[in-house]
Amino acid sequence: MRSIFLHLHPAKVDRSSIEFNRTFGLGGMAALLIVVQLITGILLRFYYTPVPGSAYASVVFTKNQVLFGQFIRNIHYWSGVFLLLIAFLHFLRVFLTGAYREIRTKNWLFGLLLLVLIVFLNFTGYLLPWDQLAYWAITVSTNMIGYLPLIGESLRTTIIGGTELNADTLRTFFTFHTAVLPLLLLLLVFYHFWRVRKAAGILMPEAQEKPEMIPVVPNLVFKEFIVALVLLAVVFLFSALFNAPLLEKANPAYSLNPTKAPWYFAGVQELLMHFHPIFAAFIIPVSVAAFLAWIPFLNYGQAPNGRWFISEKGLKSSVTTAKFAVIITLSGILFNEYILNFETSFSFLPAFVSNGIIPLLILTGLMAGYYQFYLKGQSLSKAELVQAVFVFIIVAFIILTLTGIFFRGKDMALTFPWRAF
Ligand code: HEM
Repeated sequence: MRSIFLHLHPAKVDRSSIEFNRTFGLGGMAALLIVVQLITGILLRFYYTPVPGSAYASVVFTKNQVLFGQFIRNIHYWSGVFLLLIAFLHFLRVFLTGAYREIRTKNWLFGLLLLVLIVFLNFTGYLLPWDQLAYWAITVSTNMIGYLPLIGESLRTTIIGGTELNADTLRTFFTFHTAVLPLLLLLLVFYHFWRVRKAAGILMPEAQEKPEMIPVVPNLVFKEFIVALVLLAVVFLFSALFNAPLLEKANPAYSLNPTKAPWYFAGVQELLMHFHPIFAAFIIPVSVAAFLAWIPFLNYGQAPNGRWFISEKGLKSSVTTAKFAVIITLSGILFNEYILNFETSFSFLPAFVSNGIIPLLILTGLMAGYYQFYLKGQSLSKAELVQAVFVFIIVAFIILTLTGIFFRGKDMALTFPWRAF
């Protein structure tokens, strides 16, 4: 046990590295939620039947007849949601403290993979109850795959095993959700932890004085214990108060209106409302993913240094960029919805141009203007400039996601949150 423990933690740590606001304990919280997911997932598996004819009934049975069935289902649902949110926050903290370079490059890249795995664990689990919500959310999401150029349609039919969701889709999703993805996740998490140890812990700003080394037990372990208790209390409270959604049994003949993708794909679905599918479902997401993967390999000169936002200047430019991103994204959504529909206004052009190249050029022009009139004058370092681009992308993504979840109602028209569900 002692040697397992020492693989996770060293015997002593720098006192300032375990201050709560260095990491907010987010990595540890994600790890704990994975354990909760595994335990509750195994418990749910005892009653679940992965066949369209009986999947829904088995979930209803678990919920209504099994002792603590509803509660365990709720914990599995909410800890899945929290895991994704917390892994996302952890990814933000890692970036914003500059811990993505040199010895940490691999952990940044494998971390991105972890984030993708968690999204797909949530996604494959979404279908399993086989209710209306699951059926139609997975239908719209898998339809997005069909928009990929050349291979899109055949990829979609391969993934779902036909032209619409069926018993094969459920079996494939079930296998990925309960075997392939958890296994990959566990392997990657262990590798991730090992790399954190190999990098001698988290990235710290260069200290003026010699670091004060203190024993991990009880100093760090006590803090971890408190964080774990608070997190479990929050998950249990949510699970006691809010039931995991379950509508009526899936009915392929009757679609929900609005038909929304699961919440983590709401941003892409919102993009589809404004851009040609090739841009919304392919060019923009792939460019963002490529940018994130490319971040460690830029030649930064002066390396980011473990300080939040790099410097005062870095913080100021990030805050201004975040405000700019809010304004541009919100006004873009409203302009496109109420003032100018590119596709109908320029119907003489191919949709790829009217609804893809033109809005993208406008967006690029606005960003170039922002760079010219604000960012350039701040004489930022390369790392601070990359940070500004990162902040722009993240804030725009969050606004798109929130719009998709809370402000799209019947026929996917913009509406108020109380009419959106
Ligand atoms: C299942 C998901 C994940 C788990 C369980 C996890 C766990 C951890 C833990 C426990 C640490 C030590 C410090 C801390 O708590 O922040 C850490 C550090 C780190 N993580 Fe993660 N992580 C996950 C996902 C990610 C993601 C999505 C990324 C980013 C793309 C990432 C990149 C990193 C990097 C680069 C470090 C080193 C940070 C530093 O040196 O300051 N991790 N992770």
